[in-house]
Amino acid sequence: MKLDPSEYPRRRQQLMAQLNDNSIAIIPSSPTHVRNRDVEYLYRQDSDFYYLTGFDEEHAVLVLIPGREHGEYVLFCQEKIKEQEIWTGRRVGPEAAPAVLGCDDAFPITDIDDILPGLIEGKDRIYANLGTSPEFDGQLMGWVNHIRKQVRNGSQPPREFCGLDHILHEMRLIKSDAEIDVMQRAADISAEAHCRAMQLVKPGMYEYQLDAELTRTFMAAGSRWPAYPSIVGAGENACILHYTRNDAQIQDGDLILIDAGCELDFYASDITRTFPANGRFSPEQKALYQLVLDSQYAAMEHIYAGKHWNEFHDAALKVLVTGLVELGLLQGEVDAIIEAGDYRRFYMHKTGHWLGMDVHDVGEYRVDGQPRMLECGMVLTVEPGLYVAPDDETVEARWRGIGIRIEDDVVVREDGCEVLTRAVPKSVEEIEALCQQQL
Ligand code: GLY
Ligand code: MN
Ligand code: MN
Repeated sequence: MKLDPSEYPRRRQQLMAQLNDNSIAIIPSSPTHVRNRDVEYLYRQDSDFYYLTGFDEEHAVLVLIPGREHGEYVLFCQEKIKEQEIWTGRRVGPEAAPAVLGCDDAFPITDIDDILPGLIEGKDRIYANLGTSPEFDGQLMGWVNHIRKQVRNGSQPPREFCGLDHILHEMRLIKSDAEIDVMQRAADISAEAHCRAMQLVKPGMYEYQLDAELTRTFMAAGSRWPAYPSIVGAGENACILHYTRNDAQIQDGDLILIDAGCELDFYASDITRTFPANGRFSPEQKALYQLVLDSQYAAMEHIYAGKHWNEFHDAALKVLVTGLVELGLLQGEVDAIIEAGDYRRFYMHKTGHWLGMDVHDVGEYRVDGQPRMLECGMVLTVEPGLYVAPDDETVEARWRGIGIRIEDDVVVREDGCEVLTRAVPKSVEEIEALCQQQL
């Protein structure tokens, strides 16, 4: 499923409307990365670049020049060279780029040093994201210095550099209906993968066998890859937040924590479920699981337009700490425990993050030093968890090594939140029923 192509020109217009007069914005494609020796990682386009172009080739640079008479959207891209395309794949090429991508002008990337200084010259301000790629920063300075050397001939170098990320990332933070449609499809594919994993799990399997099933389900449905490395943690591995070794054998009595989501047309999904390998939660597992689930429901009550970013985390935390005191894992008064942060050895992360083209998506969490207000069309995760370290001697042995997280993806609406990942069950009864319904 692809995003509606009319989104790209709309985004470029929306961005250019926010740039100063007589300015230029320059956005490079993602660099390629070596994995080992002469093997590269699969290429993943830069999210900002793709957001504005829908173009996924490497060695490209997008240039936006608001008000330029000969066209505002200029693209530098790889030339079509038959001998190279035989090895590395088909390219659009500068000749076809205007028709295929809607740019006004396209030039070979090999000519950028000759052409781009001429486009920059005379502009007051350059918008670019500096500091993320030393190679691009160096190139940009090279183009500007080229103009500076010509000042005695009347050339005018730009006077200001301005970050583009703030403007662009505020746009990316609010999702359009078309974006939410793609994110819903990504969530549905990931939901199917989680349901299958629950139906397939058996003690004696290896974590990587579930990992393989997740990837298979993602790719069979048209996703190119997971949005981030899948976490499949059995038993105490569930207490390692970013566990990715996925190589342990699953034991009878283990809980399995799977945190996995596919990427679909550059949009991420991000789901966590925790379930018993043998189809039944133990009493301790069930007590902590129910507590995490209750905290997630409490959090979701605080997600709608007008609430603040911190409120759903605070609501989840209150439920978790109250429950931990009731179960005897923490001692003391709930507000004092929260104030002192004494819960952190069981709950060391926040209850969510923005979700979009990047799994930890762009966008500020605070505005003017205050937690920002939620707005319609923001997409975020809601992911409380509890992790009792295997060597935590402050709690009875029966609690140790239990790790639980429940994570869903939600869209902020006027009067509540819409759960994109609702297709994966999460009540104790539903989870046990699905795990016992072996495929
Ligand atoms: N999968 C990464 C996260 O949940 O934040
Ligand atoms: Mn997440
Ligand atoms: Mn996750």
